[in-house]
Amino acid sequence: MSDTNFIRENNARFFWGPMAHPGELRAAPPRVIARGEGVEIVDIDGHRTLDGVGGLWCANLGHSAEAVKAAIVRQLAELPYYNTFRSTTNIPVIELSYALKEYFAPEGLTRVFLTSGGSDSVETALRLARQFHRVNGEPERTKFFSLRKGYHGTHFGAASVNGNPNFRRNYEPMLPGCHHLPSPSTYRSEFATEDGAEIARAIARAFEEAIAFEGASTIAALIMEPVLGAGGVIVPHPTLFPLMREICTRHGILLVADEVITAFGRVGAACGARLWGIRPDLVTMAKALTNGYFPLGGVMLSETIATAFEANADTRATISHGYTYSGHPVGAAAALAALSEIRRLDVAANARARGSEILEGFGALMARHAIVGDVRGQGLMLAIELVADRAARTPAARGVVQAVFERTYAAGLMIRTSGNTLILSPPLIIDRSHVGRILEALDAGLAAGGAAAAAG
Ligand SMILES: Cc1ncc(COP(=O)(O)O)c(C=O)c1O
Repeated sequence: MSDTNFIRENNARFFWGPMAHPGELRAAPPRVIARGEGVEIVDIDGHRTLDGVGGLWCANLGHSAEAVKAAIVRQLAELPYYNTFRSTTNIPVIELSYALKEYFAPEGLTRVFLTSGGSDSVETALRLARQFHRVNGEPERTKFFSLRKGYHGTHFGAASVNGNPNFRRNYEPMLPGCHHLPSPSTYRSEFATEDGAEIARAIARAFEEAIAFEGASTIAALIMEPVLGAGGVIVPHPTLFPLMREICTRHGILLVADEVITAFGRVGAACGARLWGIRPDLVTMAKALTNGYFPLGGVMLSETIATAFEANADTRATISHGYTYSGHPVGAAAALAALSEIRRLDVAANARARGSEILEGFGALMARHAIVGDVRGQGLMLAIELVADRAARTPAARGVVQAVFERTYAAGLMIRTSGNTLILSPPLIIDRSHVGRILEALDAGLAAGGAAAAAG
C-alpha cells in the first residue's frame, strides 16, 4: 500500500467524486476512510467513529460481514465472471433468483432482472414498465409519475423521475413525459395543512386530476420510495401507499416501489412495501442486497408482468435491455450470503427497536437544542433538520451544519449532511450501547452548531 503522504498529496487531485464540485473537492479534500470494523470506520489519521451512514445506506450488516466476504472470495476462485446473455447463465444467479422469489413472496413478486446498482434498476423498471404495456397492446402508455423530493438515481431515466431539481438542472432536457406530484412532507408541506393523512389524500387527489388530464391510457407507471431517503428522510403517512396503489390499479398504471434503500430491513420491516401493506408491480433494489460489498441491483416483477412477457408469442416481449454485469456471479454469491445473514440476524426487528430508541433520543435533543427544527425517521432511516429560527423554519446556514458535522465526527460519529438536514442510516446490527454513543456525539455536535449559530 502507498505511504500516507502519497495518499494525502493525491487526495481529490485526479479523482472526481459523485455529487460534489470538483473544484471544492480539490480545495477541501474529503476524509480518507482507511478501514472498517464491525459498525465502525477508521480514517487515515487513525480516528475511529461509529459509521452512522452505513457506508451509504448499504452496509446494513456492518463492515465485518465475514460470511459475505467469504462468499465473494469463494466465487472469485470458482467463476469470477461469466455473462447471462441468453445462451449462458451461472449457478449463483439461479440460486439468487430463487432466494429473492422466496424473500418477496408476500408481495407476490416472482421474477428478478439483475443490474449493477440502483440507477440501473430504476432504468430497468421504467423500461420494463413501458414494455409491459406494449406487450399488453397498450403502446401509448409511456408516461411516468413520481413524487417531488423523491430520489431515484442519476441515469437519464432515473434523473427524469427525480423530484429534486438539483439533480436535473445541469443535465436538462430530461426524458419527456415525466410528471411530478407533491411531496408527502409534513414539516415542509406543499399544502395548507401539516396533517399527514390529509396530505396523503391531497396527493392522491392531485394524481387523480393529473390522470384525468393526461389520460390514463398514456401513463405507464408511478414510481415512489416507501420512505423518501436522499430527499431528507420523509416518512409518508401510512395511508399514502395504499391510496396510490388503489388509484394505480383502477387506472391500469403500474406501481414501482423504489426500495433501493428501504428493502432488506432498513425501515424495520423486510421491505417498504410490507411496512405499508401493499403489493407493488415492480420493486427496485440494490445497496444492502450485497451489503454494499459488490455493486449489484435488481428489479422484482409481479406474476402479472411475468405472465404477460412469458406468454407473448412475438418479439414485443424480447428484453432488448441489460448490462454486462446483469447476473454477475460474484455479486449473486455476495447477495445470497447477505440475504441469509439478513434473515439469520433478523436485522429488520433490530432496526425497528433501535430506530425507535434513537427517535426518542432525538426528541430529547430537540428539547435541548434550539437549532433542531424537526426530527423524523422510520426504522434506521433517520433525520434531524437544522433551522436558524424554529418558528419560521428557516434552514440553518451552511456553516452551522458544517460545525455540527465536524464536532459530531470528532465526538465519534460519522453522519451525512444534505442541505440543512443531518441524515443517519447506521448499520442495522447496532446495539443499545451504539444508540447511546450516537445520541451523545450528536448532543456534542448540536451544541457546537448552536454556538456557531450564536456567533453568527
Ligand atoms: C431510492 C433510490 N433509488 C435509486 C438510487 C440510485 O442508486 P445508485 O446510486 O446505486 O445508482 C438511490 C441511491 O441512493 C436511491 O436512494
